[in-house]
Amino acid sequence: MNYNKKSIEDIEVAGKRVLCRCDFNVPTKDGKITSDKRIVAALPTIQYLIDQGAKVILCSHMGKPKGEWKPELSLKIVADRLSELLGKPVIMAADVAGEDSKAKAAKLNNGDVMLLENTRYIKGETKNDPELAKALAQLADVFVNDAFGAAHRAHSSTAGVADYLPAVSGYLVQKEVAIMGKALANPERPFVSILGGAKVSDKLNVINNLLEKVDTLIIGGGMAYTFLAAKGYNVGTSLLDAEKIDYCKEMMAKAEAKGVQLLLPIDTVVSSSFPSPIDGPVDVETVPSNQIPADKMGLDIGEKTRALFAEAAKNAKTVVWNGPMGVFENPTLAKGTIAVAQALADSDAVTIVGGGDSAAACEQLGFASHITHISTGGGASLEFLEGLELPGIACLQDK
Ligand code: 3PG
Repeated sequence: MNYNKKSIEDIEVAGKRVLCRCDFNVPTKDGKITSDKRIVAALPTIQYLIDQGAKVILCSHMGKPKGEWKPELSLKIVADRLSELLGKPVIMAADVAGEDSKAKAAKLNNGDVMLLENTRYIKGETKNDPELAKALAQLADVFVNDAFGAAHRAHSSTAGVADYLPAVSGYLVQKEVAIMGKALANPERPFVSILGGAKVSDKLNVINNLLEKVDTLIIGGGMAYTFLAAKGYNVGTSLLDAEKIDYCKEMMAKAEAKGVQLLLPIDTVVSSSFPSPIDGPVDVETVPSNQIPADKMGLDIGEKTRALFAEAAKNAKTVVWNGPMGVFENPTLAKGTIAVAQALADSDAVTIVGGGDSAAACEQLGFASHITHISTGGGASLEFLEGLELPGIACLQDK
């Protein structure tokens, strides 16, 4: 796919009505935003549009209301936070591209900012309904996509609208694509990728694609047990994707044929049961990964593995990490994930964390500022690493 797309700097936006798709799908608890990272990440584009004198019409989804008008998924809280961050009012529309949005958009002055309601309040959004795309397009003269986190979705507001308006990227999309694109296309070597998370089946294509590119592939987290089983080890009651054992064998053979070093855990933190509650007390011991007792489950990587993985990250020039090494929600089982986050933070390499849980872990642990790039996309960054075409980027004008 061609990632060389026009950006907001390549078109005239002054005095124009600019529809800017952001990913304001922020985590909330009890009606409050718990991380405004995605709002902050959109600020450079929004500020540029304001400074250029555009009439800024922002839109985003939040959660999965599936066409229902769920008040708890209103973007009003985002408008309030954005207004604080920008230091100016953000006009909130009462609908997505209906009468209220039209009336408010028509009254915008240059430099004003308004936010439409949750695009997923409209059923057609996730089906890429052209009627919704047209209604959104009618509000504006230009479309800017800055929603990297939603770029893997072919929805009316992420891709469909580009059929009706000149469409370019915002700074966040540009940055995500530049950093991750370079890592995949032209990485400084050694290039090490660390993959974790629960299931092999979630990362089948990522593993396959990364094996074409990396010098070392490290597998930890729940998905490692299927690889260990594929090596013929007994993994006790650990998470196992039994149907994917052959796939893991294939990937191990592919790594060998390509001369890619494949690192798996050599020791494992085990317990007789999964902690309940997830952050509650848990009795653990560490065993060699080829000696997991039949009645125990692996829940984190052991100390020797932590050192092995950290050493690989230390010697790398590029590191891409996606997915926790264990049940990191539990302090006793978070050591593997913390060790990897620490290794990336300590490394001189270009370090990229691909969204989701691993990004949250880096932020919670306070390592974020030592990482070169933490993607704002969870699913989007995974699909990017898989080498898939992202519809929200493919739809933009080529340079
Ligand atoms: C995300 O949180 O990964 C993006 O906002 C996309 O959300 P979605 O998975 O609901 O499409």
